Amino acid sequence: AFEERARRMVEREFNLSFMHDLPLHNRIVAGRAFNTDDAARGALSVEEGIARTLGWNIGDVLTWQVAGENFKAEIVNIRKLDWDSMRVNFFVIATPALQLIIDEATGAGIDHVVVVTSHAKPAIEAYFDHAPEVVAKLRSTGRHAMADSLGRIGRDVRISFAYQDEARGLGHAVGCAREAVGDEPFAVLLPDELMGDSSLLTQMIDVCASSGGSVVGLKQVPAAEVSAYGVIAPAGSLDARGVVRVASMVEKPAVADAPSDLIIIGRYVLTPDVFDRIAEVQPGSGGEIQLTDALRTQAHGGPFHGVLSTIRRFDTGNPFGWLTAVVELALDDPDIGPRFRTWLHEQF
Ligand code: G1P
Repeated sequence: AFEERARRMVEREFNLSFMHDLPLHNRIVAGRAFNTDDAARGALSVEEGIARTLGWNIGDVLTWQVAGENFKAEIVNIRKLDWDSMRVNFFVIATPALQLIIDEATGAGIDHVVVVTSHAKPAIEAYFDHAPEVVAKLRSTGRHAMADSLGRIGRDVRISFAYQDEARGLGHAVGCAREAVGDEPFAVLLPDELMGDSSLLTQMIDVCASSGGSVVGLKQVPAAEVSAYGVIAPAGSLDARGVVRVASMVEKPAVADAPSDLIIIGRYVLTPDVFDRIAEVQPGSGGEIQLTDALRTQAHGGPFHGVLSTIRRFDTGNPFGWLTAVVELALDDPDIGPRFRTWLHEQF
């Protein structure tokens, strides 16, 4: 009974799905085990550090006993618990970053979110598990905003999953969502980037509806920074609403080759013909299937626009960016902001 309680606690604490009936100290990250009498084979995903310590390798078969019953499963995956897979479940103040993305999408009227994930990241899916007891607990402790957000999942917004099990680029990831998205315009939100609110996405959806073509979010950056991004070649100047027609674009150009200082940020509203374009794209920058390369063929063939973002944007794709996002948002928070500001002053 102690073990069962401990396992449930760790599952909740770390938002990880543990397999059935394996002693907790083995630190399996995810998987299923079967009684040895069962014909089905168990499969485990194991955290890298633990596998190294215990000398486990892919293909090893673990056997153990619980209450006199024999269990058995094969290690099929050794996972790195790296920054990449952890960060969307990190909390920004009191809300997981992933939830902020869902809130931004629903705020722009989106009612179906397709999460492109990989089988090696079960914590992402686990986040969306129906958990009425968690919502009730949040309410009873006064965290109504988070309770409202969680309550919307499955009720106001449908969540589906598409899987990209190999890192073959952003274009490839979007292509993996083809079946789940279907034949209608859709938005792409890269969860590395957190936006202040839903207004940019709302405006981009409007521009897509009125122009009939795809739309990207834009930001102006110092010329020296363009090489880390997709960069557009504008066809003319920005109008009063910050909208510009896009003639072409290029992924991560050298500074000297950049067609402008307008970079593509992680927000897109795309027409579904992009899926055929993605299927035709050859590996580009970094050997990956680049979304930018597929979008360039769209821009060459019809209406394509960019919308300059004027709202706050945090790039949490690296530890420094994530930290600055947390600090800025904490300073803004009506509950903890004033206390945090005082504490910061005391430190420095
Ligand atoms: C991706 C896109 C790039 C875009 C950027 C925005 O790059 O390929 O065009 O400017 O996101 O964050 P990544 O950050 O995956 O290298």
